[in-house]
Amino acid sequence: VPQTESVRWLGADDRDLAAGVRRIVLDVVGKGGAIGWPDGATAGEVDAWFADRLADAAAGRCRFALARDDSGVLQALGRWVRNPNAVWRHNATISQVMTHSDARGRGLARAVMEALIADARAAGIESLVLNVRGNNHGAERLYRSLGFREVGVLRDYVAVGAHRFDLVDYQLILGQPADIVRHGRTAGGPGST
Ligand SMILES: CC(C)(COP(=O)(O)OP(=O)(O)OC[C@H]1O[C@@H](n2cnc3c(N)ncnc32)[C@H](O)[C@@H]1OP(=O)(O)O)[C@@H](O)C(=O)NCCC(=O)NCCS
Repeated sequence: VPQTESVRWLGADDRDLAAGVRRIVLDVVGKGGAIGWPDGATAGEVDAWFADRLADAAAGRCRFALARDDSGVLQALGRWVRNPNAVWRHNATISQVMTHSDARGRGLARAVMEALIADARAAGIESLVLNVRGNNHGAERLYRSLGFREVGVLRDYVAVGAHRFDLVDYQLILGQPADIVRHGRTAGGPGST
């Protein structure tokens, strides 16, 4: 999916975006955002994380979207990754969608999500999955508004110190080939016991 005015894709030569990405991630982590970094992060840790994402994007292992505001400042990001398991490869996972706290409520996360969905669809991905901490109701509202449906709950799965939160799984079916045979949970077929 092509880049739009506000959303661009991370490429192998985008090392110079490190400072803009660091600014977003440090802000979100510093304010306790639910992106899997509960104990805070240093600039060096975020830079190492970004270097890994750059390598992933360069190798085609991930599609990493970045959104700018009207002034051209990077303010939001997110990515999708094809599931590695041989029988799950037609699905992908969206993770760590986030917007700098200065730029929330302006549709930037929605723009990132719409780009990720369109891009995964164009890549032939049949379904997208993601998960949300049980108290992240704003994010759930965003995902639901885009068509994601809740498919399960892992109890007390998220630990932040002594606190436990449920993890809520969501899925969005994008498109399936006409010739697939859907078995659902019916007995029979490979793997049946
Ligand atoms: C969740 C988050 C990404 C939303 O970013 P954002 O750029 O402010 O979101 P948008 O402006 O694109 O809002 C899109 C939709 O999300 C929902 N939403 C976002 N924040 C919300 C809030 N605080 N309360 C209720 N709904 C909210 C709304 O449905 C909104 O649509 P609407 O404006 O048409 O009602 C942002 O709050 C964030 O970075 N949080 C910390 C990190 C995080 O939790 N990421 C998600 C991990 S699963």
